[in-house]
Amino acid sequence: MNIPARFSLFFLILSVSGPGGISAHRDGEKDSTVKTMEDFSGYSIHEPNYPTSVSSLSVDTHSLQKQIDELSTFSDSPAPSVTRVLYSANDVLARRYVKSLMSLSGLSVREDAVGNIFGRWNGYEPELAPVATGSHIDAIPYSGKYDGVVGVLGAIEALNALNRSGFKPKRSLEVIMFTSEEPTRFGISCLGSRLMAGSVELEGLLKKTVDGQNISFSDAAESAGYRNALHFSNVLLKKGSYSAFIELHIEQGPLLEEEAIPIGIVTAIAAPASIKVDFEGNGGHAGAVLMPKRNDAGLAAAELALAVEKHVLESGSMDTVGTVGILELHPGAVNSIPSKSHLEIDTRDIDEKRRNEVVEKIHQSALSIAEKRNVKLSEFKIVNQDPPAQSDESITMATESACRQLNLNYKKMISRAYHDSLFMARVSLMGMIFIPCYKGYSHKPEEFSDIEDIANGVKVLALTLAKLSSLQA
Ligand code: GLV
Ligand code: MN
Ligand code: MN
Repeated sequence: MNIPARFSLFFLILSVSGPGGISAHRDGEKDSTVKTMEDFSGYSIHEPNYPTSVSSLSVDTHSLQKQIDELSTFSDSPAPSVTRVLYSANDVLARRYVKSLMSLSGLSVREDAVGNIFGRWNGYEPELAPVATGSHIDAIPYSGKYDGVVGVLGAIEALNALNRSGFKPKRSLEVIMFTSEEPTRFGISCLGSRLMAGSVELEGLLKKTVDGQNISFSDAAESAGYRNALHFSNVLLKKGSYSAFIELHIEQGPLLEEEAIPIGIVTAIAAPASIKVDFEGNGGHAGAVLMPKRNDAGLAAAELALAVEKHVLESGSMDTVGTVGILELHPGAVNSIPSKSHLEIDTRDIDEKRRNEVVEKIHQSALSIAEKRNVKLSEFKIVNQDPPAQSDESITMATESACRQLNLNYKKMISRAYHDSLFMARVSLMGMIFIPCYKGYSHKPEEFSDIEDIANGVKVLALTLAKLSSLQA
């Protein structure tokens, strides 16, 4: 693989400077340089009212912005858009970049069979379950450079900030970069975290799944250097592997910016579902086949797309949403009646039952449209229909306390987007921190978060990690 010049230079710098200052403390030994959370923050973690100043915690905003900008150049579409698809050449380069930053920060780096990447700062009680944080760096076509990235590069910087401040963790702290949070390549969202949490259906599915170019999951993984990607037991996390998981992410909605609130504390993540649908008709000549004789698979798809909107609106709640993000017609010629159509539907709600009712109504509509238009409904596949996840109160409380210490106003809120946290909640206590983003834009090139807002999120994350690392049980 060709490594761009700037990247090989990066490696050169890295190899001469060596790993940074985060180092493990030897088991059980008392070290006077070790600061506990109490020492670090100047109060007992059990006290309900904390002092406000945390002057020793500083974020290197210059380096962090530089890293975000540099990572965005590993893209298959021109700036300012970012396209980084699972196991593509740019994904591989971006992964190397993240691993280098982890090493440079002195973290011990490992990868699992599907390429979830872990960077650990060993605590002085390494036998305790670690506290984890992280997010993803894959980017859907023509999206922006902050979604997920803030939660990976920001997490590495949070550990660096803690290290610079003199803090030493009791529980180990681990940064995770999850494989393929976005469903772009294989249609499966949160692939890495879903496998970590254990999904027998997904394991079966991945053995036969191919992408749009007919490349199998295992071949794609192998081309990125993951030769044992089907060894799912290597990915599975045992319950209790982590004492807590907390993800930093841009809000992807407008509320924090509109209300001028720097921090969102997520209380729950809405329940997502996605569906693939195929219709088949006879196709034919666009001039010669008269209208009464047609069974147009394209019109069946168009009608179903409108039915999705209708069913979502019928729920009567602003929390129910539905999108047809993929609509393909075959053979795709202006003078040919579509003989096949393919739709992919995304629907979500904070109320799982209501979301399930929408899925069922979409299914009924697909059946009745096929019958009415005399086309075959050759596939109606619910790819995922996930329950919502709740944040754990012990984590939201630690984050609230961090905000108070930092004098940052916060708001408790729901995440309408899904995140790897949805699946980490199955194996660990979970929490999320949101920061504002410009006009709530996300999944488009205009996505933007100010570095000062990012720095606030990194500080809140750092303090929350410090608190959680200090907890005994
Ligand atoms: C995540 O990218 C989502 O679509 O919510
Ligand atoms: Mn996304
Ligand atoms: Mn994301």
